[in-house]
Amino acid sequence: MTPAITGRTASEIADSIRALVERGTLAPGDALPPVRTLAVDLGVNRNTAVAAYRHLATTGLVEARGRAGTVIARPRAVAMEGFAADTVLRDVGSGNPDAQLIPSPARALQTIASRPVLYGEPVIDPALAAWADPWMRADLAPAQVRLTITSGAADATERLLAQSLQRDDVVALEDPCFLASIHTVRIGGYRPVAVPVDAEGMTVAGLRTAIAEGARAIVYTPRAQNPTGASLSADRAAQLRAVLGEHPYLLVIEDDHFSLLSQRPYLSIIGADHRRFAVVRSVSKFLGPDMGVAVVASDPDTAQRLAMRLTPGTTWVRHLLQRLACAQLADPEATARIAAAGRHYAARNARFAELLTRHGLPTHAGDGLSVWVALPVPARPVCEQLMRRGWLARPGDEFELDAAEPSTHVRFTVHELDDADLDALAGDVAASVAAVRAQSPGPDEHPAGRMG
Ligand SMILES: Cc1ncc(COP(=O)(O)O)c(C=O)c1O
Repeated sequence: MTPAITGRTASEIADSIRALVERGTLAPGDALPPVRTLAVDLGVNRNTAVAAYRHLATTGLVEARGRAGTVIARPRAVAMEGFAADTVLRDVGSGNPDAQLIPSPARALQTIASRPVLYGEPVIDPALAAWADPWMRADLAPAQVRLTITSGAADATERLLAQSLQRDDVVALEDPCFLASIHTVRIGGYRPVAVPVDAEGMTVAGLRTAIAEGARAIVYTPRAQNPTGASLSADRAAQLRAVLGEHPYLLVIEDDHFSLLSQRPYLSIIGADHRRFAVVRSVSKFLGPDMGVAVVASDPDTAQRLAMRLTPGTTWVRHLLQRLACAQLADPEATARIAAAGRHYAARNARFAELLTRHGLPTHAGDGLSVWVALPVPARPVCEQLMRRGWLARPGDEFELDAAEPSTHVRFTVHELDDADLDALAGDVAASVAAVRAQSPGPDEHPAGRMG
Protein backbone atom coordinates (compact mmCIF):
# COMPACT_ATOMS: atom_id res chain seq x y z
CA MET A 1 0.00 0.00 0.00
CA THR A 2 0.96 3.66 -0.05
CA PRO A 3 2.42 3.96 3.42
CA ALA A 4 1.59 7.65 3.70
CA ILE A 5 -2.22 7.17 3.85
CA THR A 6 -3.28 7.82 7.42
CA GLY A 7 -6.44 8.42 9.45
CA ARG A 8 -8.94 6.76 11.76
CA THR A 9 -12.15 8.18 10.36
CA ALA A 10 -13.42 8.33 6.76
CA SER A 11 -12.86 12.08 6.55
CA GLU A 12 -9.32 11.82 7.96
CA ILE A 13 -8.45 9.11 5.44
CA ALA A 14 -9.97 11.15 2.58
CA ASP A 15 -8.06 14.25 3.72
CA SER A 16 -4.80 12.33 3.81
CA ILE A 17 -5.34 11.08 0.25
CA ARG A 18 -6.19 14.60 -0.88
CA ALA A 19 -2.94 15.85 0.66
CA LEU A 20 -0.95 13.14 -1.15
CA VAL A 21 -2.52 14.18 -4.47
CA GLU A 22 -1.90 17.85 -3.70
CA ARG A 23 1.81 17.17 -3.07
CA GLY A 24 2.13 15.00 -6.17
CA THR A 25 2.92 11.84 -4.18
CA LEU A 26 -0.11 10.29 -5.85
CA ALA A 27 -0.57 11.12 -9.52
CA PRO A 28 -3.53 10.67 -11.90
CA GLY A 29 -3.86 7.01 -12.83
CA ASP A 30 -2.20 5.75 -9.62
CA ALA A 31 -4.13 2.96 -7.95
CA LEU A 32 -5.23 3.23 -4.33
CA PRO A 33 -4.94 0.14 -2.16
CA PRO A 34 -7.98 -2.16 -2.12
CA VAL A 35 -10.35 -1.17 0.69
CA ARG A 36 -9.73 -4.39 2.57
CA THR A 37 -5.95 -3.87 2.58
CA LEU A 38 -6.32 -0.23 3.59
CA ALA A 39 -8.70 -1.14 6.42
CA VAL A 40 -6.29 -3.76 7.77
CA ASP A 41 -3.25 -1.48 7.47
CA LEU A 42 -4.97 1.41 9.24
CA GLY A 43 -6.76 -0.81 11.76
CA VAL A 44 -10.19 0.57 10.81
CA ASN A 45 -13.49 -0.99 9.85
CA ARG A 46 -13.82 -1.84 6.13
CA ASN A 47 -16.88 0.42 5.90
CA THR A 48 -14.77 3.37 7.03
CA ALA A 49 -12.36 2.82 4.14
CA VAL A 50 -15.30 2.40 1.73
CA ALA A 51 -16.83 5.67 2.96
CA ALA A 52 -13.52 7.51 2.45
CA TYR A 53 -13.23 6.30 -1.15
CA ARG A 54 -16.86 7.01 -1.86
CA HIS A 55 -16.49 10.56 -0.62
CA LEU A 56 -13.44 11.11 -2.83
CA ALA A 57 -15.30 9.63 -5.81
CA THR A 58 -18.21 12.09 -5.40
CA THR A 59 -15.79 15.00 -5.39
CA GLY A 60 -14.19 13.65 -8.57
CA LEU A 61 -10.73 13.17 -7.07
CA VAL A 62 -10.75 9.41 -7.53
CA GLU A 63 -12.50 7.12 -9.94
CA ALA A 64 -13.98 3.76 -8.97
CA ARG A 65 -13.24 1.30 -11.76
CA GLY A 66 -15.10 -1.74 -10.46
CA ARG A 67 -12.84 -4.76 -10.29
CA ALA A 68 -9.86 -2.71 -11.39
CA GLY A 69 -10.10 -0.85 -8.06
CA THR A 70 -9.95 2.85 -7.29
CA VAL A 71 -7.53 5.19 -9.03
CA ILE A 72 -6.66 8.86 -8.83
CA ALA A 73 -8.78 10.55 -11.51
CA ARG A 74 -7.32 12.37 -14.47
CA PRO A 75 -8.53 15.94 -14.94
CA ARG A 76 -11.35 15.70 -17.46
CA ALA A 77 -10.77 17.53 -20.70
CA VAL A 78 -13.77 19.71 -21.43
CA ALA A 79 -14.59 20.77 -24.93
CA MET A 80 -14.87 24.53 -25.37
CA GLU A 81 -16.87 26.71 -27.72
CA GLY A 82 -15.06 28.53 -30.51
CA PHE A 83 -13.37 27.89 -33.79
CA ALA A 84 -10.50 25.49 -34.17
CA ALA A 85 -7.16 27.16 -34.78
CA ASP A 86 -4.58 25.57 -37.07
CA THR A 87 -6.91 23.51 -39.17
CA VAL A 88 -7.04 23.32 -42.92
CA LEU A 89 -10.61 22.08 -42.65
CA ARG A 90 -13.65 24.32 -43.03
CA ASP A 91 -14.89 24.78 -39.48
CA VAL A 92 -18.66 24.25 -39.23
CA GLY A 93 -18.75 23.61 -35.49
CA SER A 94 -17.72 26.89 -33.90
CA GLY A 95 -20.99 28.09 -32.33
CA ASN A 96 -19.79 31.62 -33.06
CA PRO A 97 -21.81 34.58 -34.26
CA ASP A 98 -20.79 36.14 -37.59
CA ALA A 99 -18.23 38.90 -36.91
CA GLN A 100 -19.64 40.85 -39.88
CA LEU A 101 -23.04 41.01 -38.18
CA ILE A 102 -21.79 42.50 -34.92
CA PRO A 103 -22.36 46.27 -35.02
CA SER A 104 -19.14 48.26 -34.95
CA PRO A 105 -18.58 50.02 -31.62
CA ALA A 106 -16.72 52.89 -33.34
CA ARG A 107 -19.56 55.40 -33.20
CA ALA A 108 -20.61 54.46 -29.67
CA LEU A 109 -17.00 54.72 -28.46
CA GLN A 110 -17.01 58.43 -29.19
CA THR A 111 -19.92 58.99 -26.84
CA ILE A 112 -18.91 57.03 -23.76
CA ALA A 113 -15.69 58.51 -22.44
CA SER A 114 -16.99 61.15 -20.11
CA ARG A 115 -15.84 61.40 -16.49
CA PRO A 116 -13.71 58.78 -14.70
CA VAL A 117 -15.47 56.29 -12.43
CA LEU A 118 -14.13 55.88 -8.88
CA TYR A 119 -14.31 53.29 -6.09
CA GLY A 120 -17.62 53.38 -4.30
CA GLU A 121 -19.73 54.24 -7.32
CA PRO A 122 -22.74 52.01 -8.09
CA VAL A 123 -21.83 48.64 -9.59
CA ILE A 124 -24.34 49.19 -12.42
CA ASP A 125 -23.79 52.10 -14.71
CA PRO A 126 -26.90 54.30 -14.39
CA ALA A 127 -27.44 54.57 -18.14
CA LEU A 128 -27.34 50.81 -18.65
CA ALA A 129 -29.60 50.27 -15.62
CA ALA A 130 -32.14 52.70 -17.08
CA TRP A 131 -32.05 50.96 -20.47
CA ALA A 132 -32.16 47.40 -19.10
CA ASP A 133 -34.73 47.84 -16.34
CA PRO A 134 -37.88 47.84 -18.52
CA TRP A 135 -36.37 45.17 -20.81
CA MET A 136 -35.94 42.73 -17.95
CA ARG A 137 -38.94 43.68 -15.82
CA ALA A 138 -41.45 43.38 -18.63
CA ASP A 139 -40.59 39.69 -18.95
CA LEU A 140 -40.62 38.67 -15.29
CA ALA A 141 -43.61 37.58 -13.23
CA PRO A 142 -42.22 38.21 -9.71
CA ALA A 143 -42.84 41.76 -8.46
CA GLN A 144 -39.56 42.03 -6.56
CA VAL A 145 -36.72 42.18 -9.09
CA ARG A 146 -33.25 43.76 -8.89
CA LEU A 147 -30.66 44.21 -11.58
CA THR A 148 -26.96 43.34 -11.45
CA ILE A 149 -24.34 43.35 -14.21
CA THR A 150 -21.84 40.51 -14.67
CA SER A 151 -19.06 39.83 -17.18
CA GLY A 152 -21.24 37.71 -19.43
CA ALA A 153 -23.49 34.72 -18.91
CA ALA A 154 -20.86 32.18 -17.91
CA ASP A 155 -19.57 34.60 -15.28
CA ALA A 156 -23.12 35.13 -14.01
CA THR A 157 -23.70 31.38 -13.71
CA GLU A 158 -20.43 30.87 -11.86
CA ARG A 159 -21.07 33.69 -9.38
CA LEU A 160 -24.72 32.78 -8.90
CA LEU A 161 -23.89 29.17 -8.09
CA ALA A 162 -21.04 30.20 -5.80
CA GLN A 163 -23.25 32.57 -3.78
CA SER A 164 -25.74 29.89 -2.84
CA LEU A 165 -24.15 26.44 -3.22
CA GLN A 166 -21.44 24.37 -1.64
CA ARG A 167 -19.13 21.80 -3.18
CA ASP A 168 -20.94 18.55 -4.02
CA ASP A 169 -24.32 20.28 -4.27
CA VAL A 170 -26.43 19.03 -7.15
CA VAL A 171 -27.02 21.35 -10.13
CA ALA A 172 -29.54 20.43 -12.81
CA LEU A 173 -28.32 21.08 -16.34
CA GLU A 174 -29.98 20.56 -19.67
CA ASP A 175 -28.83 17.49 -21.56
CA PRO A 176 -27.41 18.12 -24.11
CA CYS A 177 -25.94 21.31 -22.75
CA PHE A 178 -23.93 24.44 -23.55
CA LEU A 179 -20.27 23.62 -22.95
CA ALA A 180 -19.46 26.55 -20.65
CA SER A 181 -22.30 25.56 -18.28
CA ILE A 182 -20.98 22.00 -18.01
CA HIS A 183 -17.50 23.39 -17.40
CA THR A 184 -18.66 25.88 -14.76
CA VAL A 185 -20.51 23.22 -12.82
CA ARG A 186 -17.63 20.74 -12.97
CA ILE A 187 -14.84 23.13 -12.02
CA GLY A 188 -17.02 24.55 -9.24
CA GLY A 189 -17.06 21.08 -7.67
CA TYR A 190 -20.83 20.74 -7.99
CA ARG A 191 -22.53 17.59 -9.18
CA PRO A 192 -24.33 17.97 -12.51
CA VAL A 193 -27.56 16.08 -12.99
CA ALA A 194 -28.96 15.82 -16.49
CA VAL A 195 -32.40 17.05 -17.47
CA PRO A 196 -33.22 15.81 -20.99
CA VAL A 197 -34.28 18.37 -23.56
CA ASP A 198 -36.81 17.65 -26.32
CA ALA A 199 -38.28 19.89 -29.02
CA GLU A 200 -40.27 21.89 -26.42
CA GLY A 201 -37.41 22.44 -24.00
CA MET A 202 -36.57 20.71 -20.74
CA THR A 203 -38.76 17.73 -20.00
CA VAL A 204 -41.10 17.79 -17.02
CA ALA A 205 -40.14 14.27 -15.93
CA GLY A 206 -36.47 15.25 -16.16
CA LEU A 207 -36.98 18.27 -13.95
CA ARG A 208 -38.91 16.19 -11.40
CA THR A 209 -36.15 13.58 -11.31
CA ALA A 210 -33.46 16.25 -10.89
CA ILE A 211 -35.35 17.73 -7.95
CA ALA A 212 -35.79 14.27 -6.44
CA GLU A 213 -32.03 13.81 -6.75
CA GLY A 214 -31.53 16.90 -4.62
CA ALA A 215 -30.93 19.66 -7.18
CA ARG A 216 -30.41 22.99 -5.44
CA ALA A 217 -30.08 24.99 -8.63
CA ILE A 218 -30.99 24.64 -12.26
CA VAL A 219 -29.34 26.33 -15.23
CA TYR A 220 -31.37 26.32 -18.42
CA THR A 221 -32.12 28.21 -21.63
CA PRO A 222 -35.71 29.30 -22.28
CA ARG A 223 -35.16 29.63 -26.04
CA ALA A 224 -32.55 28.89 -28.71
CA GLN A 225 -31.15 26.15 -26.52
CA ASN A 226 -27.51 25.43 -27.29
CA PRO A 227 -26.93 22.95 -28.93
CA THR A 228 -30.46 21.74 -29.81
CA GLY A 229 -32.10 25.02 -30.84
CA ALA A 230 -35.17 24.10 -28.77
CA SER A 231 -37.39 26.80 -27.27
CA LEU A 232 -39.99 26.34 -24.55
CA SER A 233 -43.57 25.92 -25.74
CA ALA A 234 -46.23 27.72 -23.71
CA ASP A 235 -47.59 24.41 -22.42
CA ARG A 236 -44.19 23.14 -21.37
CA ALA A 237 -43.33 26.41 -19.64
CA ALA A 238 -46.58 26.22 -17.65
CA GLN A 239 -45.94 22.59 -16.67
CA LEU A 240 -42.39 23.36 -15.54
CA ARG A 241 -43.61 26.41 -13.58
CA ALA A 242 -46.13 24.15 -11.83
CA VAL A 243 -43.38 21.71 -10.81
CA LEU A 244 -41.20 24.56 -9.54
CA GLY A 245 -44.18 26.03 -7.69
CA GLU A 246 -43.54 23.42 -5.01
CA HIS A 247 -39.86 24.38 -4.73
CA PRO A 248 -39.80 28.18 -4.52
CA TYR A 249 -36.27 28.27 -3.05
CA LEU A 250 -34.64 26.19 -5.77
CA LEU A 251 -32.34 28.64 -7.56
CA VAL A 252 -33.50 28.95 -11.17
CA ILE A 253 -30.88 30.46 -13.49
CA GLU A 254 -32.45 31.29 -16.81
CA ASP A 255 -29.86 31.86 -19.53
CA ASP A 256 -31.65 33.88 -22.22
CA HIS A 257 -28.47 34.12 -24.28
CA PHE A 258 -30.14 34.70 -27.66
CA SER A 259 -32.61 37.34 -26.42
CA LEU A 260 -32.50 40.13 -29.04
CA LEU A 261 -31.64 37.70 -31.84
CA SER A 262 -34.31 35.15 -31.07
CA GLN A 263 -37.16 34.45 -33.44
CA ARG A 264 -39.19 32.94 -30.60
CA PRO A 265 -41.15 34.62 -27.81
CA TYR A 266 -39.63 34.64 -24.38
CA LEU A 267 -41.39 32.23 -22.04
CA SER A 268 -40.28 31.74 -18.47
CA ILE A 269 -40.54 28.95 -15.94
CA ILE A 270 -40.18 31.42 -13.09
CA GLY A 271 -43.60 31.87 -11.50
CA ALA A 272 -44.75 35.03 -9.71
CA ASP A 273 -44.09 33.44 -6.30
CA HIS A 274 -40.70 31.93 -7.03
CA ARG A 275 -38.19 33.16 -4.47
CA ARG A 276 -34.74 32.39 -5.88
CA PHE A 277 -34.20 33.18 -9.52
CA ALA A 278 -31.96 34.99 -11.95
CA VAL A 279 -32.65 35.80 -15.60
CA VAL A 280 -29.36 36.36 -17.40
CA ARG A 281 -29.16 38.23 -20.71
CA SER A 282 -25.69 38.41 -22.14
CA VAL A 283 -24.83 40.71 -25.05
CA SER A 284 -22.23 38.22 -26.37
CA LYS A 285 -24.28 36.88 -29.26
CA PHE A 286 -25.12 40.28 -30.74
CA LEU A 287 -22.42 42.70 -29.52
CA GLY A 288 -19.70 40.02 -29.45
CA PRO A 289 -18.30 37.77 -26.70
CA ASP A 290 -15.49 40.23 -26.00
CA MET A 291 -17.92 42.83 -24.67
CA GLY A 292 -18.30 40.67 -21.57
CA VAL A 293 -21.54 42.19 -20.28
CA ALA A 294 -24.68 40.44 -19.08
CA VAL A 295 -27.69 41.93 -17.34
CA VAL A 296 -28.97 39.79 -14.47
CA ALA A 297 -32.48 40.29 -13.07
CA SER A 298 -32.98 38.40 -9.83
CA ASP A 299 -34.79 38.31 -6.53
CA PRO A 300 -33.42 40.92 -4.12
CA ASP A 301 -31.58 38.40 -1.86
CA THR A 302 -29.81 36.80 -4.79
CA ALA A 303 -29.00 40.27 -6.19
CA GLN A 304 -27.50 41.32 -2.89
CA ARG A 305 -25.31 38.25 -2.61
CA LEU A 306 -24.29 38.51 -6.24
CA ALA A 307 -23.36 42.16 -5.79
CA MET A 308 -21.06 41.18 -2.91
CA ARG A 309 -19.01 39.32 -5.51
CA LEU A 310 -18.71 42.46 -7.63
CA THR A 311 -16.58 44.82 -5.60
CA PRO A 312 -16.70 48.43 -6.74
CA GLY A 313 -13.62 49.22 -8.79
CA THR A 314 -12.09 45.75 -8.68
CA THR A 315 -14.26 42.82 -9.69
CA TRP A 316 -17.14 44.82 -11.08
CA VAL A 317 -17.83 44.99 -14.80
CA ARG A 318 -15.93 47.96 -16.23
CA HIS A 319 -18.20 50.97 -16.61
CA LEU A 320 -16.51 51.66 -19.92
CA LEU A 321 -17.88 48.38 -21.22
CA GLN A 322 -21.28 48.94 -19.65
CA ARG A 323 -21.51 52.36 -21.28
CA LEU A 324 -20.33 50.99 -24.59
CA ALA A 325 -22.93 48.21 -24.54
CA CYS A 326 -25.60 50.68 -23.52
CA ALA A 327 -24.68 53.22 -26.20
CA GLN A 328 -25.02 50.50 -28.83
CA LEU A 329 -28.25 49.09 -27.44
CA ALA A 330 -29.79 52.56 -27.38
CA ASP A 331 -28.75 53.26 -30.99
CA PRO A 332 -31.59 52.41 -33.41
CA GLU A 333 -29.13 51.75 -36.22
CA ALA A 334 -27.27 49.15 -34.14
CA THR A 335 -30.47 47.50 -32.92
CA ALA A 336 -31.78 47.33 -36.48
CA ARG A 337 -28.56 45.49 -37.41
CA ILE A 338 -29.06 43.11 -34.49
CA ALA A 339 -32.64 42.37 -35.57
CA ALA A 340 -31.43 41.76 -39.14
CA ALA A 341 -28.69 39.45 -37.84
CA GLY A 342 -31.34 37.40 -35.99
CA ARG A 343 -33.34 37.01 -39.19
CA HIS A 344 -30.21 36.12 -41.14
CA TYR A 345 -29.18 33.31 -38.74
CA ALA A 346 -32.73 31.91 -38.84
CA ALA A 347 -32.90 32.02 -42.65
CA ARG A 348 -29.48 30.38 -43.19
CA ASN A 349 -30.21 27.65 -40.68
CA ALA A 350 -33.65 27.00 -42.17
CA ARG A 351 -32.05 26.70 -45.61
CA PHE A 352 -29.53 24.15 -44.35
CA ALA A 353 -32.29 22.14 -42.65
CA GLU A 354 -34.26 22.14 -45.89
CA LEU A 355 -31.25 20.91 -47.89
CA LEU A 356 -30.53 18.12 -45.41
CA THR A 357 -34.19 17.10 -45.48
CA ARG A 358 -34.01 16.91 -49.27
CA HIS A 359 -30.98 14.66 -48.88
CA GLY A 360 -33.04 12.26 -46.78
CA LEU A 361 -32.02 13.59 -43.35
CA PRO A 362 -35.18 15.22 -41.94
CA THR A 363 -34.03 18.27 -39.98
CA HIS A 364 -35.74 21.14 -38.22
CA ALA A 365 -33.62 24.25 -37.67
CA GLY A 366 -34.87 25.44 -34.26
CA ASP A 367 -33.61 28.83 -33.04
CA GLY A 368 -30.03 29.89 -32.37
CA LEU A 369 -26.66 30.08 -34.09
CA SER A 370 -26.38 26.38 -34.91
CA VAL A 371 -28.43 23.49 -36.27
CA TRP A 372 -28.70 20.24 -34.31
CA VAL A 373 -28.92 17.42 -36.79
CA ALA A 374 -30.23 13.96 -35.91
CA LEU A 375 -28.53 11.16 -37.84
CA PRO A 376 -29.52 7.53 -38.32
CA VAL A 377 -25.98 6.46 -37.32
CA PRO A 378 -23.45 7.49 -34.63
CA ALA A 379 -22.11 11.01 -35.06
CA ARG A 380 -18.38 10.52 -34.49
CA PRO A 381 -17.69 8.34 -37.53
CA VAL A 382 -19.83 10.71 -39.61
CA CYS A 383 -17.66 13.61 -38.44
CA GLU A 384 -14.57 11.60 -39.37
CA GLN A 385 -16.02 11.07 -42.82
CA LEU A 386 -16.78 14.78 -43.05
CA MET A 387 -13.14 15.55 -42.23
CA ARG A 388 -12.07 13.56 -45.27
CA ARG A 389 -14.38 15.78 -47.28
CA GLY A 390 -12.85 18.94 -45.80
CA TRP A 391 -15.30 19.82 -43.00
CA LEU A 392 -14.73 20.09 -39.26
CA ALA A 393 -17.97 19.40 -37.37
CA ARG A 394 -18.76 18.82 -33.71
CA PRO A 395 -20.28 15.49 -32.73
CA GLY A 396 -23.07 15.68 -30.16
CA ASP A 397 -21.08 13.62 -27.64
CA GLU A 398 -19.26 16.78 -26.54
CA PHE A 399 -22.50 18.35 -25.36
CA GLU A 400 -24.04 15.35 -23.67
CA LEU A 401 -23.93 14.78 -19.94
CA ASP A 402 -25.39 11.30 -19.75
CA ALA A 403 -23.45 9.74 -22.57
CA ALA A 404 -24.22 6.06 -22.12
CA GLU A 405 -24.54 5.64 -25.90
CA PRO A 406 -22.55 7.31 -28.67
CA SER A 407 -24.36 10.46 -29.80
CA THR A 408 -26.31 10.40 -33.05
CA HIS A 409 -26.33 14.20 -33.37
CA VAL A 410 -24.03 16.76 -34.89
CA ARG A 411 -24.11 20.49 -34.19
CA PHE A 412 -23.47 22.55 -37.30
CA THR A 413 -22.75 26.28 -37.33
CA VAL A 414 -23.31 27.16 -40.96
CA HIS A 415 -24.77 30.66 -41.10
CA GLU A 416 -21.65 32.02 -42.83
CA LEU A 417 -21.89 29.54 -45.71
CA ASP A 418 -23.33 30.71 -49.03
CA ASP A 419 -25.94 28.68 -50.92
CA ALA A 420 -23.40 26.67 -52.90
CA ASP A 421 -21.39 25.75 -49.81
CA LEU A 422 -24.53 24.87 -47.84
CA ASP A 423 -25.56 22.59 -50.67
CA ALA A 424 -22.11 21.00 -50.80
CA LEU A 425 -22.10 20.45 -47.04
CA ALA A 426 -25.59 18.90 -47.02
CA GLY A 427 -24.49 16.54 -49.80
CA ASP A 428 -21.33 15.65 -47.90
CA VAL A 429 -23.29 14.93 -44.71
CA ALA A 430 -25.58 12.58 -46.62
CA ALA A 431 -22.57 10.90 -48.29
CA SER A 432 -20.82 10.55 -44.92
CA VAL A 433 -23.90 8.95 -43.38
CA ALA A 434 -24.07 6.53 -46.32
CA ALA A 435 -20.36 5.70 -45.89
CA VAL A 436 -20.81 4.96 -42.19
CA ARG A 437 -23.86 2.84 -42.92
CA ALA A 438 -21.90 0.89 -45.51
CA GLN A 439 -19.18 0.20 -42.93
CA SER A 440 -21.55 -1.13 -40.31
CA PRO A 441 -24.82 -2.19 -41.87
CA GLY A 442 -27.24 -4.14 -39.81
CA PRO A 443 -30.46 -4.05 -37.89
CA ASP A 444 -28.90 -2.36 -34.84
CA GLU A 445 -28.49 1.05 -36.38
CA HIS A 446 -28.72 3.62 -33.71
CA PRO A 447 -32.09 5.26 -33.41
CA ALA A 448 -32.24 9.03 -33.62
CA GLY A 449 -31.93 10.27 -30.06
CA ARG A 450 -34.09 12.50 -27.93
CA MET A 451 -34.15 15.43 -30.32
CA GLY A 452 -35.30 13.39 -33.30
C1 LIG B 1 -26.40 28.92 -23.92
C2 LIG B 1 -25.37 30.00 -23.92
N1 LIG B 1 -25.32 30.84 -22.88
C3 LIG B 1 -24.45 31.87 -22.87
C4 LIG B 1 -23.56 32.09 -23.91
C5 LIG B 1 -22.67 33.28 -23.89
O1 LIG B 1 -22.02 33.39 -22.73
P1 LIG B 1 -21.13 34.64 -22.33
O2 LIG B 1 -22.02 35.77 -22.02
O3 LIG B 1 -20.42 34.16 -21.13
O4 LIG B 1 -20.23 34.96 -23.49
C6 LIG B 1 -23.55 31.20 -24.97
C7 LIG B 1 -22.55 31.35 -26.03
O5 LIG B 1 -22.23 30.44 -26.75
C8 LIG B 1 -24.49 30.15 -24.97
O6 LIG B 1 -24.55 29.32 -26.01
